[in-house]
Amino acid sequence: MTRVNPGGTIGILGGGQLGRMLALAAANLGYRCHIYCPEENSPAFQVADQTTVASYTNEEALTDFARAVDVATYEFENVPAQTADIVSKNTLLRPGARALMVSQDRLVEKEFLADSGVKTAPYQAFHSAAELKEAFKSIGRPSVAKTRRFGYDGKGQQLVKSSKDLDKVLSVTNSTPAILEGFVNFDREISVIVARSASGDVAAYPVSENVHTNHILDITTVPAKVSDMVEAKAKVIAAKVANALEYVGVMTVEMFVSDAKGQIIVNEIAPRVHNSGHWTMDGATTSQFEQHIRAICDLPLGATNARGIIRMKNLLGDDILDNEQYLADPKASFHHYGKSDPRPGRKMGHVTWVDADD
Ligand SMILES: Nc1ncnc2c1ncn2[C@@H]1O[C@H](COP(=O)(O)OP(=O)(O)O)[C@@H](O)[C@H]1O
Ligand SMILES: [Mg+2]
Repeated sequence: MTRVNPGGTIGILGGGQLGRMLALAAANLGYRCHIYCPEENSPAFQVADQTTVASYTNEEALTDFARAVDVATYEFENVPAQTADIVSKNTLLRPGARALMVSQDRLVEKEFLADSGVKTAPYQAFHSAAELKEAFKSIGRPSVAKTRRFGYDGKGQQLVKSSKDLDKVLSVTNSTPAILEGFVNFDREISVIVARSASGDVAAYPVSENVHTNHILDITTVPAKVSDMVEAKAKVIAAKVANALEYVGVMTVEMFVSDAKGQIIVNEIAPRVHNSGHWTMDGATTSQFEQHIRAICDLPLGATNARGIIRMKNLLGDDILDNEQYLADPKASFHHYGKSDPRPGRKMGHVTWVDADD
């Protein structure tokens, strides 16, 4: 039996806001959570039943943690392979190690997507200035150089408009393995939050439309301003990716859309709940966090329909100081992640408006 029943304990690697919102959703379904995170005072610790503060390389602490939980999951994709291995030897790990392996490396990820019959931007790996020059010749301009590993919020990326920009690339990628990919002239960015349960049931949420500012998600709106055909196609692509990975849990597929051609290009995947799915907490029958708990515990998946026209805004850094304004807004649902230091760009909270009349 792979079902974990209410009353059971869920282990979460990572103690940020995603772990926190997962733990809150798990509690609502009758589960306890044990959070494992190297940083003391992690936001998820405030809402957890048990906590472990230890590094992701501490074999003994990881083994004890895994043995104390009925199923383990994670809130971030950079869980080291070794860590996943130790945990999965001692408890159920969902999603499994393959999802981590694929999403941690942009080259492996692109190859996996291509093998799954999903369209991506053209790409080529490079390791040296000479290989970069070669890649630029074949990919063309403009293109974007990205480190294969550890990129987020646009970090480790460099736009290449002409061969003059090639010099900058190696300093940005820090001479670590990287890829050059074709720049996509998209009309909009969308993402699909999709769940696949341990029994293989799949459910996708309505498409999220995302606007980034300074490479960080700013606003998500639902429904996305895409045709019915694109909406349907995007969900099919997300389900295809989840099935190809034999994925268990909630995952996110980021895509670029060209309106005129109705073309969808997959940008990247995240093996976890996602910022562009926060709207589901107030705007859907089942939140992405609850859906993840349902999927990994092998409960039936919940309904994914949106409750109206929805807008989610991230509160970064000092934005959180406007909380009075959101608390006074009768249409706003305000979320504070319990972080005390509002550093610039830091994700401090979010606010969602569900307004079916707009
Ligand atoms: N090939 C591309 N063409 C056009 N824009 C891109 C391309 N790759 C990335 N971007 C832009 O940069 C953002 C961040 O890139 P992404 O690959 O999602 O990395 P990460 O989110 O890990 O930082 C994307 O959301 C998109 O706005
Ligand atoms: Mg991204």
